Amino acid sequence: MRVLVTGGAGYVGSNVVSALRDAGHSVSVIDDLSSGHPAALSDDVEFAHGGCGDPAALEAIERPDGIMHMAAKCSVGESMSNPRAYYETNVRESLRLLDWMVDREIPWIIHSSTCAVYGIPRRLPLGEDATPRPINAYGATKLAVDQAISYYSGAYGLQGTRMRYFNAAGAQPDGTLGEDKTPASNLIPRVLAVALDIHKDVGIFGTDHPTPDGTGVRDYVHVRDLAAAHLLAMDKLASGDAGNTYNLGTESGSSVQEVLAAAREVTGHDIPAIAKEAREGDPALLVASRQRARDELGWEPERSDLSTILRDAWEWHRTHPSGHRTAGS
Ligand code: UD1
Repeated sequence: MRVLVTGGAGYVGSNVVSALRDAGHSVSVIDDLSSGHPAALSDDVEFAHGGCGDPAALEAIERPDGIMHMAAKCSVGESMSNPRAYYETNVRESLRLLDWMVDREIPWIIHSSTCAVYGIPRRLPLGEDATPRPINAYGATKLAVDQAISYYSGAYGLQGTRMRYFNAAGAQPDGTLGEDKTPASNLIPRVLAVALDIHKDVGIFGTDHPTPDGTGVRDYVHVRDLAAAHLLAMDKLASGDAGNTYNLGTESGSSVQEVLAAAREVTGHDIPAIAKEAREGDPALLVASRQRARDELGWEPERSDLSTILRDAWEWHRTHPSGHRTAGS
């Protein structure tokens, strides 16, 4: 199949592109390179520079059989200080892409959505039937596109799948294709930046959450496992399925303290950590139910235990201290 991956030069996108190539598919990428890196793309991938809804970029590539739509801005804090940029990139550009699909009769789309659409969960583990109540602009923009895909499917016969990622983490096991965001703000890259002596310590955002050790609990899912779920969903859509919404997490949570302990073990560094105030709007505990992904896609995460995630992420960060800009990468 020929697949267009928007945002294919980004962290999750480049791992999905690599999994598609490994499975023998042809890939085109559209990326504006605002947070993606050209070095994350291999030479056998067709590339057009531009926004994901940019008609010139869309017309420049070979006609795809379907689209994996991963181009987006994805920092929660930034989405609150600059919502305009989030609505422009995540909503307006996505709607342009959907319109182009309908006009060109491209049959299917898989959207990279997020657990941030749910807001503060009322029940755990979080199933797809939980009512979405986003508490930040990032989650709101992702929900808007999830909903647009549903309405477009009903009206125009589009097949659409919404993938709600929990905390994407890890790197390609050979230490290539990892997370490259400066400055590192997500927990695992931040912790590993301390192990590399790029930062002297890491803040623990909240130590009196209602969790077993008082620190925030998240459902970390390996980026290669996320990629595998996309390939399974694609096969289902290609066989004529209408598409569905899937939570992609492991059903098991890890606290900040547990991440720190696993990182100390993997890196051999003592990684100093200091207690800080909880971040505003940060849920204490987020864990996915993956029953639907298991039942309908046959998805079984294989590398998402914390020590494998940290080992793979460490291999990437250790060998690429300046990310994709590291000489020789
Ligand atoms: C959020 C979004 C997620 C998005 C990601 C990237 C939600 C529910 N999730 O994840 O969809 O893809 O941001 O922007 O909004 N922590 C520390 N110290 C740090 C950093 C984080 O203690 O220096 C804690 C956080 O409080 C949290 C956990 O570590 O409990 C994970 O945080 P982070 O990696 O930033 O991701 P989320 O905020 O969960």
